[in-house]
Amino acid sequence: MQRCVAALDQGTTSTRCILFDRSGRIAGSAQREHEQLFPRRGRVEHDPRTLWRNTEYVLGAALDDAGCTAADVAAVGITNQRETTVVWDRATGEPVYNAIVWQDTRTAALCDELAGSAGPDRFADRTGLPLSTYFAGPKLRWILDNVPGVRQRAEDGELCFGTIDSWVLWNLTGQHLTDVTNASRTMLMNLRTLQWDSEICAEFGVPESLLPAIRSSSEVYAEINTGPLQGVPVAGILGDQQAATFGQACLIPGEAKNTYGTGNFMLLNTGTTVVTSRHGLLTTVCYRLGDQEPVYALEGSIAVTGSLVQWLRDNLGVIGSADEIEPLARSVDDNGGAYFVPAFSGLFAPRWRPDARGVIAGLTRFVTKGHLARAVLEATAFQTREVIEAMRADAETQRLDLELTTLKVDGGMVRNDLLMQFQADILDVPVVRPVITETTALGAAYAAGLAVGFWAGTDELRANWAEDKTWQPSMAADERERLYAEWNKAVERTYDWADD
Ligand code: G3P
Repeated sequence: MQRCVAALDQGTTSTRCILFDRSGRIAGSAQREHEQLFPRRGRVEHDPRTLWRNTEYVLGAALDDAGCTAADVAAVGITNQRETTVVWDRATGEPVYNAIVWQDTRTAALCDELAGSAGPDRFADRTGLPLSTYFAGPKLRWILDNVPGVRQRAEDGELCFGTIDSWVLWNLTGQHLTDVTNASRTMLMNLRTLQWDSEICAEFGVPESLLPAIRSSSEVYAEINTGPLQGVPVAGILGDQQAATFGQACLIPGEAKNTYGTGNFMLLNTGTTVVTSRHGLLTTVCYRLGDQEPVYALEGSIAVTGSLVQWLRDNLGVIGSADEIEPLARSVDDNGGAYFVPAFSGLFAPRWRPDARGVIAGLTRFVTKGHLARAVLEATAFQTREVIEAMRADAETQRLDLELTTLKVDGGMVRNDLLMQFQADILDVPVVRPVITETTALGAAYAAGLAVGFWAGTDELRANWAEDKTWQPSMAADERERLYAEWNKAVERTYDWADD
């Protein structure tokens, strides 16, 4: 009998494969990091061929780790860094350009141009998104306009566009498809029809022949025709944040999770209702299981959280490894008055300020690297509070049934006790970590496993969720509000710096 489902997670910094058994426990895993390419200020790229090579490697290595063969694997689910854009040749599979990563800001002027006099919310009604460098549509348009010969080849039907899920699926199976969650991050899909919006595609100058077919998040798409998993069906695709929401079993309207990865992403399940934010959140497809009705979410996307720790390590050398940040931050009692606002890609939710750039505010001779380490961790918690306040404001103005009594968290940074305690303090809400924090991969595995009957239904997924640790808020209210007010002052110092 098949004993596991494989999840492939192609993320911003690494590619991983995790095999899960029926109870949601990890049976084996493998991971490989890839190089971040920064060819110019504001630009972030990945080599798509490296992403594919790493995919092949981790699939084989995870099988070895679990002592499994393809015969033990019921299905594969794909989850991925969202919005990152690849264009490749339909005949040869050769990418025409590097993948343009979601953090890349090269399309700022293009977004202004597309917004025109209507402003950044020009397509928000239909797409749930403001015009921003974050999304795939403007990145695709940039490739069409700037890579020699590409527009003509696109018009001749020679090329494929895809977010990373499509790129990986195409290499695994030869099929050119995407799922509704990834498509909802392009700005080219209509949230209600779940089809490409021809009018928006025309406004963006994107030939529809480039685009993959849009499918649900949980169905058999095709069998793998290469490598050690040959013959196994790919049966789930979810953008990584939607996958984490699914993996955290946030399956009822009003349930929310916050993932602490390269950036932070909070998603609130709003059920089958498309809720339009009035406070800087995105509306996105949360998941669609086969031909059931789609489930939507409100999302607060923060561009830089965990990647600020990497920046401290790689660009400043203040720490030698990411794990060193917690002891360094604990070497002092507080932030010493320093605030670090990491607006490296402008500011995303809820402020959407493409003109913002990072600042460290409040420096005095007193400030040490311990204080800076603390300010780095606190930045994640303060940005999360901004997003939660936006969600509460939307809930109130739109009478949504949402009382945030606890915050479910996952992702790499939730191992950091100091951060989690500070998060509970600054929100005044308990923060809860589940036993399995690999919720992104788990969500993709669930989507694939449901499609092939490995799990019978979503009740089984809910039953698998178990609490590991809770951090209770313990900060005095006046201290909490003083810190948050200072943070807000620091954020205002980031505006009007755009360099592109
Ligand atoms: O929208 C960007 C997000 O999908 C990236 O996630 O975990 O790769 O940083 P992650």
